[in-house]
This record gives sequence, structure tokens and C-alpha cells, in this order.
Amino acid sequence: MKGPVTTAAGPVTAADSAVDLLTGGDSGAAWLARYSGALMGVFGTPQRVLVRGSGCHVWDADGNRYLDLLGGIAVNALGHAHPFVTSVISSQLATLGHISNFFTSPTQVALAEKLLALAQAPDGSRVFFTNSGAEALEAAFKLARRNSTPERQRVIALDGAFHGRTMGALALTSKKAYREPFEPLPAGVEHVRFDDVDALRDAMDDSVAAVVLEPIQGEAGVRPLSPEYLRAARNLTREHGALLILDEVQSGVARTGRWFAHQWVDGVVPDAMTLAKGLGGGFPVGALVTFGEDVSALIGAGQHGSTFGGNPVATAAGLATLHTLEASGALQHVADVGAHLHAGLAAVEGVVAVRGEGLLIGFDLDGDHAPAAVQAALAAGFIINATGPATIRLAPPLILTIEQAASFLDALPDILDTVRMPADSTSQETPA
Ligand SMILES: Cc1ncc(COP(=O)(O)O)c(C=O)c1O
Repeated sequence: MKGPVTTAAGPVTAADSAVDLLTGGDSGAAWLARYSGALMGVFGTPQRVLVRGSGCHVWDADGNRYLDLLGGIAVNALGHAHPFVTSVISSQLATLGHISNFFTSPTQVALAEKLLALAQAPDGSRVFFTNSGAEALEAAFKLARRNSTPERQRVIALDGAFHGRTMGALALTSKKAYREPFEPLPAGVEHVRFDDVDALRDAMDDSVAAVVLEPIQGEAGVRPLSPEYLRAARNLTREHGALLILDEVQSGVARTGRWFAHQWVDGVVPDAMTLAKGLGGGFPVGALVTFGEDVSALIGAGQHGSTFGGNPVATAAGLATLHTLEASGALQHVADVGAHLHAGLAAVEGVVAVRGEGLLIGFDLDGDHAPAAVQAALAAGFIINATGPATIRLAPPLILTIEQAASFLDALPDILDTVRMPADSTSQETPA
């Protein structure tokens, strides 16, 4: 095309970004009005319209800057627009963007090998790539079905569990409000009391095909399972021929200061593990990892698949992310910054409990003002998240610095002062 390109917003110059070329430039309020006219309302009204990110910061359409302490809900492991991840994705896309699963690519093979190595998975272990966490859980559910017989049909999950919104993942998710509008869900799932070894022991017999657990429940407000519970789950599943499936979609990929949260507990090696979120450093990629030859053989040729899963760009993003985390010593950094945040939060007036590991942190307030605190934090330039009326979650980029963490700790007392008024009962949970 000759001459200047013209959009609804006027002629495009070299100074305009590619995004402006495609969208025109509007204020946040104008975008939100357009959003409500065009997008399905499942997420409520977005808090801001974000247009740019760099490191741990994002900017909105009105030019305001925020320190991102949520990281796209535990996704932006390396922050926003990480130069190495961006360049690897771009060059892979410019070389070979998509192939069908009749073919493979070096990045797919290398990422699978890397995940198996980081998981210290035994010989015979395998990876199936997905595009999201829910899809990884669907694959895990199918694995459980392949461990089933007419006498072995039950799948045990936990109260408070969140495993995603597709039908199989939803069947594993415990919250009634998410499940009931979509019933009937795939059958056989039972939810037992969180972190209660006796309840699990009572539920277990040879009719159980799988037990599905999040080592740290993220959506429930960052609730870690005790090491004793994870060990008991490992022993009981082994005793009864059931699979232990650990959902590390939120807790995996260095988020807690270990590659995978279950690695904090000696002796707990799962039969399968689901991953997504941080794995692609912001690019959609998920995985089911099966441990050992027998479990890996449960799903055979033709029994599962995905058009986009494991594509060259997504797996290049995963490789670049894992490489950067490893090369930068992220595990120690996450432990250090996490410990600083943990201790700092515990000392803030109005914070009554702090939970979590590394940079997956939940804290409870002394009243139902978490949604108001989210708004006050935004006004002060911080992105945080309410998982419930009195609970805040932080899942920042793993490159968050001590100084950035300290800036939030310094601001938090004022943020809470503005909201620690009479209890505010309006719940504004963020759906994952
Ligand atoms: C533990 C866990 N499993 C599964 C999912 C679903 O992942 P996705 O939203 O990518 O489908 C989530 C999302 O929050 C999660 O936290």
C-alpha cells in the first residue's frame, strides 16, 4: 500500500505503535464502555484498561503506572515484556509458528525434556502440552478415567479446590456457585475436608481412581496443605492403587521458591502434575506431566490431543522462561523476596494472618474490606487481588525486587487506613 495508512483515529505515523494502528487510541472510560458492549460479562467490569507493561510495572490507557503484585494471577513469571522471552517468541514465530501434531519441533522436545529434568521425574515419564490450566486438568481427569474399572470410578478432590472452568476441571472444582449452573458435570468426584488426613483416610478404598490436590490452594486464599497431609495422600493413594495428581498450575514453575511446590516435601513424588500459568512467562502454555512408565502408558495413541497444544511458539516461550529463571537464580530470589514480604505483611496493623510460600502469598484482613483494599491499592499504584471478602492474594512477577516489595509494605498501612472503616460486605472476588 502506498502513502500513509489512515485509521479511524487518523493517519498513522512511524511514532504510532502497532497496537494503535489496530485499535485507535481511547481513554480508559471509553474502552470500558466499548468493553461492556462487546465482551461477555463473565468477569464483571475490568478494574482498568492496561496498554503497556515493562518488568514489574504496567500502565493504563490514561497513563497511570502500577506495580503489578498479581502478575496476571501468577502468570507473568518474568514480568512484562521480558526482552529475552520476547525475542525468543518473536524469532520462533518468524521461523516456524505452527505445525500440526503430525509433526514435532525442537522446542517441543526440548521443553518436555526440561520439565522432566526439573521435576526429577523417573525414567519413562512423559509430557502432554496444553494451552491452559483447565486443559491440563482435563487431560489429568482422562488419566484418572484410564485408571478406572467398573469398581474403581471415584475421584477425590478437596473442599476449596479450584481446578478450572471446563466441564472436567469444573467437576474437580468445589465451589457450588461455579458448578451448579452447569450440572450435570462428569460423575464420580467427591470433595473431602481440606488438610484433614482422617477425612481422606475415611474416603479412601480400592474404588478410588485418583486424588487431585493443589499443594497450595490459590483461589481459596492461598491455603497450603501440610507436609503431613501430602505424605499421607501419597501413601494412601499408593496403598489403594489410586493416582496422586498434583495441580501445580498456580504453585508451580518457581512460584514458591522450588520448581514445583511439592518439592518442599521430601518423599512426595506424584503420579501426575498439571502446569500452566507461569510456564510460558505470559504466553499461553500448559502441561500434564506423567511420572513413570506405567502411568505414562495409561493414555495411548489417539486417546487425547490438541491442535495448538505444544506448538513451536508456546514451547519456545516455555523454554525461554525456564532458562531465564534458572540462569538468574530465581529460586533463591523468590525465597528471599517472599520472606521479606511475608515478615513485612505480618507486621502491618490490620493484617491478621499471612500464608503461602515464596511469592504466592495470601493475607487476611481484620474485616471484610479486601475488595475496598484492592480499589485503594489501585488508587495508590498497586495491583493486588481479593480472593474473598477479607483475603488478599499476591502473586507478583518472580523478578520483583526487595525495593519494590518494600514500597508496597510502606504503602499498605495507609491503604488499609482508608478502608478499615465499618465492615464492607460487598464481595468482589476475581474469577480465574
Ligand atoms: C490450581 C489451578 N488449577 C487450574 C486452573 C485453571 O487454569 P486456567 O485458568 O489456565 O484454565 C487455575 C486457575 O486459576 C488454578 O489456579
